[in-house]
Amino acid sequence: MKVLFVCTESHPFIKIGGLGDVAYALPKALRKMGVDVRVIIPKYSDISSNFKTKMKHIDSFNVKVAWRNQYCGLEYLEYSGIPYYFVDNEYYFKRDGIYGFYDDGERFAYFCDAVIESIKHMGDFKPDVIHCNDWHTGMIPVFMKDNSIKTVFTIHNLKYQGVFGKEILGDILGLSDEYFSENKLKYYDGISFMKGGINYADLVTTVSNSYAKEIKTPYYGEGLHGLLENRGAKFLGVVNGIDYDVFNPKDDKEIYFNYNINHLDNKLRNKIELQRELKLPVNRDIPMIGIVSRLVKQKGLDLIAEVIEELLGMDIQIVVLGTGEMHYEDLIQYYSYIYPSKISSNIYFSNEMAKKIYASCDMFLMPSLFEPCGIGQLIAQRYGTLPIVRETGGLKETVLPFNKYTRKGTGFSFKNYNSRELIKTIKNAVSVYKDKKLWKEIMQQVMEKDNSWQNSAKTYKEIYKNLIYN
Ligand code: GLC
Repeated sequence: MKVLFVCTESHPFIKIGGLGDVAYALPKALRKMGVDVRVIIPKYSDISSNFKTKMKHIDSFNVKVAWRNQYCGLEYLEYSGIPYYFVDNEYYFKRDGIYGFYDDGERFAYFCDAVIESIKHMGDFKPDVIHCNDWHTGMIPVFMKDNSIKTVFTIHNLKYQGVFGKEILGDILGLSDEYFSENKLKYYDGISFMKGGINYADLVTTVSNSYAKEIKTPYYGEGLHGLLENRGAKFLGVVNGIDYDVFNPKDDKEIYFNYNINHLDNKLRNKIELQRELKLPVNRDIPMIGIVSRLVKQKGLDLIAEVIEELLGMDIQIVVLGTGEMHYEDLIQYYSYIYPSKISSNIYFSNEMAKKIYASCDMFLMPSLFEPCGIGQLIAQRYGTLPIVRETGGLKETVLPFNKYTRKGTGFSFKNYNSRELIKTIKNAVSVYKDKKLWKEIMQQVMEKDNSWQNSAKTYKEIYKNLIYN
């Protein structure tokens, strides 16, 4: 079975968010199950030259974007047993950054065309299935004319749809008016890549079951709930996992001390080291809450802002890592000046620091407004750090709220997007934390939970199989 996995980011080459983790970990898990899956991404200038110099040039050819011919170089590199292809075009991809340019519509329309053209240049690798991810790849199912190749389209975040003016994009895409009159691409007055993917793919998935349910309702559906509902059984949720080799407290080289479910003392030693490194008071008994996140509205930063003073009045420590919207960055910085013994602000991103935080903290805060799946809570659980989340999307699906009567749970959660519920939940977690024996019991439950890709990769393999043979 041959699958071409198309994405605009992938660990370890280029990563903005969870999408980049998925585009590495899922193909890796599928390959272990005998699927010949290969990944294709653009060759951005931000990819480290360490990788670029190792890439092998496979072919160069022209790609037709509407009436123009654009250059495409196809390059190749294997990483961790996964074959990667790179689409090389300096005009579109030799820029600082990867998203957010005035011509993103054209750039990713080109990418979609280039991927389809590239298939003819991959030697004996002819995919049975093309697996597309998020709006940037949404035109692939629209453009695909070869019926022997099936398409899967996965929604990682419905909020970003790639909608562009019809006048401009209509020409670039070279699509006849028929496409628009059928209403299959039209979103108000624009053309939507996301809509293209949803309407034309043979099968549509998203990254958790609960998000799949949510986006069929107007509240979460971003205007596309009816369309998703219409796809019936051709639209389903498959929850993401994380890579169990990349994230493993037992032999992670980036954390201070390794530990496992039977030796949790070393987790505490991580906490003490982190307190030292971040110049927080060293205290093994104080509950430490980590936030590793893009500092944006989606991730619940508004709620945190509303209660931050009250939080800082509690006997806790907070460690924040991430970048995002300036007002949230400023807010975190500001409070770390006023309460240097309570909150450590780290306005940058580093995988190594992220892991130190996952390993060292007692709790991990992620009160998202909406969350298709979420990766942070899964990593936290793997490191025995209990997530405190809002019950939405993947967070609802992967965190079982602790129940004091049954003593079962894999985190703490609240229902409504409301700062009072948030603070109540944090206070509850802190009070449970005081019972050391109970806390340890919950940590063990959390670390036993299987968040690997094993199950979901199997589901994808089934999905591909059904598409090919039915
Ligand atoms: C997007 C979503 C996030 C999900 C990730 C990977 O970043 O916002 O919830 O985990 O994609 O699917």
